[in-house]
Amino acid sequence: MSRRYASAVALDEVSLDIEAGSAVALMGASGAGKSTLLHLVGAMDRPDAGEILVDGARVDDLPRRGLDRYRRRIGFVFQRFHLLPALSVLDNVLAPVLPRRVDFDRKARAMDLLDAVGLTDRASALPSRLSGGQQQRVAIARALIGRPPLLLADEPTGNLDSGTGHEIVDLLLTLREAYGMTMLVATHNPEVAAVCDRVVRMRDGKIAADERLTPPDDVLDRIGRLG
Ligand SMILES: Nc1ncnc2c1ncn2[C@@H]1O[C@H](COP(=O)(O)OP(=O)(O)OP(=O)(O)O)[C@@H](O)[C@H]1O
Ligand SMILES: [Mg+2]
Repeated sequence: MSRRYASAVALDEVSLDIEAGSAVALMGASGAGKSTLLHLVGAMDRPDAGEILVDGARVDDLPRRGLDRYRRRIGFVFQRFHLLPALSVLDNVLAPVLPRRVDFDRKARAMDLLDAVGLTDRASALPSRLSGGQQQRVAIARALIGRPPLLLADEPTGNLDSGTGHEIVDLLLTLREAYGMTMLVATHNPEVAAVCDRVVRMRDGKIAADERLTPPDDVLDRIGRLG
């Protein structure tokens, strides 16, 4: 896939195949194209050339309704937590599913997720009362409320000190394992990359290196275990 802007080629004929259930770190200098790639995979942006297939289906040319349906199956976590300041922690987690008809108990699931991220006792607090790490936990719970098979994270530890960042990464990996998600994480943090299954290094919109830390068979085993 490629993505050009007037002033720059953000992605230059990148080709990448990601196994379901794996955690892949995208590394590379500022401007290398990491966020652009995440936005294309999340269908928040379209490529100028090439195709993007998720679960065997193209997602780069979806019509409006297909786009909504696809985006609901993706969880996004950002460097800035983007919580709604006037809403409680619980309501922030509920926000993505409030306008939708769903076949599960929204509040029960939101409370389960707050439990999973260790924030049950802060459910009625406003985000401004929480630390950065706690706010990112809320953002993660919110990203998972629709049980997305794919989680896209753009520098999820970028605004956190290294200890807190570490906790967030551990949490993401635990949740990934529990829910069987595929995870694509753009990061400058080598600690984050080190715990992923694979590290893809980008440079000037191209893939400069692609290193597997977990053998593909082990990733398959994990998916098999999850059934
Ligand atoms: N909306 C935009 N308009 C114009 N150029 C853009 C836009 N978004 C990104 N670019 C350009 O595309 C290239 C890739 O940017 P991208 O944001 O994907 O990099 P990145 O690897 O995420 O960097 P960082 O580590 O700083 O987040 C850069 O040259 C950038 O200036
Ligand atoms: Mg970026």
